[in-house]
Amino acid sequence: MCGIVGYLGNGNAYDVLIKGLHRLEYRGYDSAGIALVAPGGKLNVFKAKGKVENLETICNDKDTDASVGIAHTRWATHGEPSDCNAHPHYSEDGNLALVHNGTIENYKLLKDALEEHGCKFHSETDTEVLVQLIEYIKINNKCSLLEAVREALHQVVGAYAIAVVEKNDPDTIIAARQSSPLVIGIGDDETFLASDASPFVEYTKDAVYLNDGEIAVIRRNEPLKVLNLENRESKIDVKTLEMSISQLEKGGYPSFMLKEIFEQPTTLRECIRGRVVENGQRVIISGVRDHKEKFLNAKRIVIVACGTSWHAALIGKYLIQEMCHIAVEVEYASEFRYSNPVLGKDDIVIALSQSGETADTIAAVKIARSMGAFVFGISNAVGSSIPRETDSGAYIHVGPEIGVASTKAFTGQVMVLTMIAMAIADLRGTLTADEIAGLGKVILKMPELVEHVLKLNDKIERLSLIYTYARNFLYLGRGYNYPVALEGALKLKEISYIHAEGYPAAEMKHGPIALIDAEMPSVIVAPRDHLYEKIVSNVQQVKARGGSIIAIVTEGDSVIRNIADHVLEVPEVPECLSPIITSIPLQLLSYYIAINKGKDVDMPRNLAKSVTVE
Ligand code: AGP
Ligand code: GLU
Repeated sequence: MCGIVGYLGNGNAYDVLIKGLHRLEYRGYDSAGIALVAPGGKLNVFKAKGKVENLETICNDKDTDASVGIAHTRWATHGEPSDCNAHPHYSEDGNLALVHNGTIENYKLLKDALEEHGCKFHSETDTEVLVQLIEYIKINNKCSLLEAVREALHQVVGAYAIAVVEKNDPDTIIAARQSSPLVIGIGDDETFLASDASPFVEYTKDAVYLNDGEIAVIRRNEPLKVLNLENRESKIDVKTLEMSISQLEKGGYPSFMLKEIFEQPTTLRECIRGRVVENGQRVIISGVRDHKEKFLNAKRIVIVACGTSWHAALIGKYLIQEMCHIAVEVEYASEFRYSNPVLGKDDIVIALSQSGETADTIAAVKIARSMGAFVFGISNAVGSSIPRETDSGAYIHVGPEIGVASTKAFTGQVMVLTMIAMAIADLRGTLTADEIAGLGKVILKMPELVEHVLKLNDKIERLSLIYTYARNFLYLGRGYNYPVALEGALKLKEISYIHAEGYPAAEMKHGPIALIDAEMPSVIVAPRDHLYEKIVSNVQQVKARGGSIIAIVTEGDSVIRNIADHVLEVPEVPECLSPIITSIPLQLLSYYIAINKGKDVDMPRNLAKSVTVE
């Protein structure tokens, strides 16, 4: 979590940093802060609890003139959200200021030792120990800031992306990373750093992604230098960013979430482009094609993911088992990493993550690789850690997702998993060319079909008014649509704070049915598929207990229409493609319920987009 940003150049650092913080706010919004190295050896630090706008308010009447600075938007791990715990933290003598994304595991040990040497701490964060330690080393070893940072990082255990500035040196920023993302933007006479490239994409497209264990030395009028902790210089690998500013703005929508829901026809088109070709007859996933042998010999596939990505992974299991006849297990990355996994060289591990920076998923990747498994990464963020740390992979290509509640990334992930399953099935001969072409043709039409589903928007907005004050919801689905029910429930919980449970519809009778009464609406995902008759019985069971029902059904359905209180009709598609269609009404329903309740859908409480800590 947390977003960090830094600037050194000839422009106004304050403006660049504040704008950058707004772009990174999706990563955390417990507090925001900024440190500016002002001319004449002054270090101005301003911080405020809450969102970046609070910081702007307090800075209104302050001197913010500077051409170098660092800033932070926080998702608290150690110490409550407060002004005092907000970053930047500074050394006791006021000489250094530092921002940090990550957690310092041995901070207590280091803090005790520093306190014994007379150092006084002002916050409850783990971060403060870093800045105090660096200054302590700097004074005692009479060394440069760079040397002090390097020495301090040798003593630190944990995850960090940091940036440090010094009061008397308006020409330097030192930054470093270990397990938390950090990217440097190289402009004309100006350098940027940030947790992702969004804060500087409008100034430069040249980016250098730092690797674990690297320190960046950003100096005015000098080329960027990257060193490792042993002081060896690394080769600078400049990548060209593909991101554009319009992707980072709301484009006339009231929120990023609504924009991202409505973008799905376009994002699915992007996701499919160049992969389903020749009028749908062939599917090309280069990450699969280039490692044919691995996919031909695979005995088992394990998919690791968290949250919404885990729901997409469950759909991936149905897809791969049906199309490729390979056993698939789906694991929460956070559980997988501590479950003594048993893996070997015939296993493929797929790591699925929108951000590519989820700490638990990255840890699972490392474990899987260390055990000899072939690891395939699926991510949306180009250049993020997962694509860089896996053996092969595929990007989702749905553009930056800013809303904390994942929508377009979910449908993109399911689409990529579908195409991967088809590519593997093609290799292994478990789908015929006709079957592939049949599905391929429908995939090419999916953007249009999704556009059609989005026409339900007004109906769902009206429907949401009836259910805004429900206190509990049950979401039910079967087969491919069981994970859709889980995802629908998660969306509602995240942004409206209404308790919702997702359940396999048939499991309901083993417990949750006891919850059903007139106060507990059920959302039932029931398109016409091979389990349709079964789910009709489940719908009846809910009705018989007086529960009200919103059902997602296939266009023309007349059976469920007569039982449910409300139906939302979606176009008919092959069963394996239905999650992409059925999940969209659920995104809209949670969106409007949250809006009716006056909630901030883009920045729901306690959450952050990318969970880069354990
Ligand atoms: C989605 O709405 C959530 N905010 C969350 O569950 C998310 O999917 C999860 O943290 C995983 O993120 P990732 O896909 O970036 O790894
Ligand atoms: N651990 C630091 C804090 O609590 C940074 C948090 C983070 O990056 O998530 O302030």
